[in-house]
Amino acid sequence: MAPLNQTRKASQQATSGDTGIASRLLAWYDAHHRDLPWRVAPGAFARGVRADPYRVWMSEVMLQQTTVEAVKAYFRNFVEKWPTVEALAAAPAEDVMKAWAGLGYYSRARNLKACADLVALRGGRFPDTEAGLRELPGIGAYTAAAIAAIAFDRPAAVVDGNVERVMTRLYSIETPLSEAKPEIRALVEKQVPRTRPGDFAQAMMDLGATICTPKRPRCMLCPVREDCSAILTGDPERFPVRLPKDDKPLRKGAAFVAERDDGAILLGKRPAKGLLGGMTEVPTTGWTARVDGATTADAAPFPADWRRAGQIAHVFTHFALELDIFHAHIKGDAPAGHFWSLAHEISGEALPTVMKKAIEAAIPGATKKPSSHSAKRPA
Ligand code: ADE
Repeated sequence: MAPLNQTRKASQQATSGDTGIASRLLAWYDAHHRDLPWRVAPGAFARGVRADPYRVWMSEVMLQQTTVEAVKAYFRNFVEKWPTVEALAAAPAEDVMKAWAGLGYYSRARNLKACADLVALRGGRFPDTEAGLRELPGIGAYTAAAIAAIAFDRPAAVVDGNVERVMTRLYSIETPLSEAKPEIRALVEKQVPRTRPGDFAQAMMDLGATICTPKRPRCMLCPVREDCSAILTGDPERFPVRLPKDDKPLRKGAAFVAERDDGAILLGKRPAKGLLGGMTEVPTTGWTARVDGATTADAAPFPADWRRAGQIAHVFTHFALELDIFHAHIKGDAPAGHFWSLAHEISGEALPTVMKKAIEAAIPGATKKPSSHSAKRPA
């Protein structure tokens, strides 16, 4: 293993005009880029072919907290249903939430709709600068930079988790990642080439996703291995350096799956604001950090012959959740604030993954039946 003092200092290596990394990376991207449904071919911009800003925006919002693999099907579905920003603006918010269900972080879907409404109102064109994009709902620094680079070929520094990993390895940055962000950004800014900045941004992402992976990076195949000082340390996986992090707190609660004889399930709507805001749910208790919180059938919102149907676990950004699941057959009208969703409608409801897990624990297969959107929900 090479001694640590052989590592090159970031400040020595990255000078503006040092385009060696960019040109090697772009050549690699030309040959090895991932084919993704929102992408145009490498070098397209120079041939006058532009990525559709609507598709780039949509993909970047979906990719904010979700993997490429998970996003692909959702992206295809969205652009098939709503091929333009005007079409998305014209769609009922409820339909957009339903199509988003399962992708998580639901404030993104609300912002997506709000952003589409605003852009459509302003004539259907997305702003073509980072500053203009940042003024739109749901577009933060990262997303604005990504859209400016990929859709408008602006020389923006696009820094996501993949890019952070690549940069901390290239420059063997010992500063813990949480404090190293300004340093990383400054280094990326110096590397962004004047030609093909959009391809450069995507090449960095692809390198991070396919070669410079968190575990077992494939350094032998890396196009910038000559430039990488983490290789010289003999342990590139050590980067990015992270401070030890606390485990997520555990919250507990109970969820109640009430079923009618025809297989309909009782659902409600969560408040518009807050966690899973505006999404559909089965009745649940509050989710408390107290281990002795209300997680028994006594906590049900109405009496029934509740039977325990197991427990599910779900991890949110700031806490882990364990829900005890109860199942009962009930008859009659839906209690106030609730509605019956027919068996063939369940899979089309805006149910977040945690709620699907709860229903599946009580009634296996219930959320997977093909939905028929033409069927009417009883009033
Ligand atoms: N992650 C975030 N944005 C991406 C993109 N445009 N291509 C691939 N991975 C991404």
